[in-house]
Amino acid sequence: MSAQPRRVENLQTDKGKVPVYATGIVDQPWDDYSADDHATWATLYARQREILPGRACDEFLRAQDAMGMTPDRIPKFADINAALRAATGWTLVGVEGLLPELDFFDHLANRRFPVTWWIRRPDQIDYIEEPDLFHDLFGHVPLLMNPVFADYMEAYGLGGVKAHGIGPHALQMLTRLYWYTVEFGLIRQADGLRIYGSGIVSSKGESIHCLDSSAPNRIGFDLERIMRTRYRIDTYQKTYFVIDSFEQLMEATRPDFTPIYARLDALPDFPAGTVRDEDTVYQRGSGEGWAQDGDV
Ligand code: PHE
Ligand code: CO
Repeated sequence: MSAQPRRVENLQTDKGKVPVYATGIVDQPWDDYSADDHATWATLYARQREILPGRACDEFLRAQDAMGMTPDRIPKFADINAALRAATGWTLVGVEGLLPELDFFDHLANRRFPVTWWIRRPDQIDYIEEPDLFHDLFGHVPLLMNPVFADYMEAYGLGGVKAHGIGPHALQMLTRLYWYTVEFGLIRQADGLRIYGSGIVSSKGESIHCLDSSAPNRIGFDLERIMRTRYRIDTYQKTYFVIDSFEQLMEATRPDFTPIYARLDALPDFPAGTVRDEDTVYQRGSGEGWAQDGDV
């Protein structure tokens, strides 16, 4: 038997049934992980590291190695924290699962990243509908070693506390920004498009789909466009947004969003698969990698 969380209840929301967990911080019960739990980590880790070179951005892969994550066993949060503390001052805190929005924002605003302590069961290797330890730790934590990305995540948390006070529509727009950057972002590297989003790097299917398939749109980062774009939680994304650098992301999100939320409030949403004439679209190049539409 693998170690499993205490689920408190299921909440019916506009995103369907969402599990609700106790909100407190828990010590990672490392000694309780079973051989199955460690094996699940090892399988997922090896599988992703096999396909990610040439797909994930260099920054992600280098940071993951630097912080001492290995396939052998589930990492101890305390060990990861020593590396994070030295690099950017972030701290992992163990949680039972998805947190209420305000609790989540408060953690980020204080440079604490909540990590689900339990790992999926063997029969959930390919897909699990909620974040588990593999998604949170393998997917989210490496880029917290990057100083610019680390600052972005803190700024996002502060922005979340603010958006929460403004109202549900502001919060929805900010959540879309997280979705299309932190979870499903692509970045342009000198040698082509690469993945930095955690929701992608922790999924074998989507890691391949987002770059290799001609089905999804890959569109240049545009803050207001993202804030107006709906997303799917139960299928691969129809659209990915591409940044040039973490600095670009940081600069574009530095302005006060309050007047932007107010202005966008009256404007319609875009369906997830929309492409507009004014969008910068990236297409697969004739050679390797990806090129901007027009220069192929
Ligand atoms: N500048 C944003 C605001 O005023 C805060 C923010 C920064 C949000 C970075 C997201 C990411 O709300
Ligand atoms: Co996530």
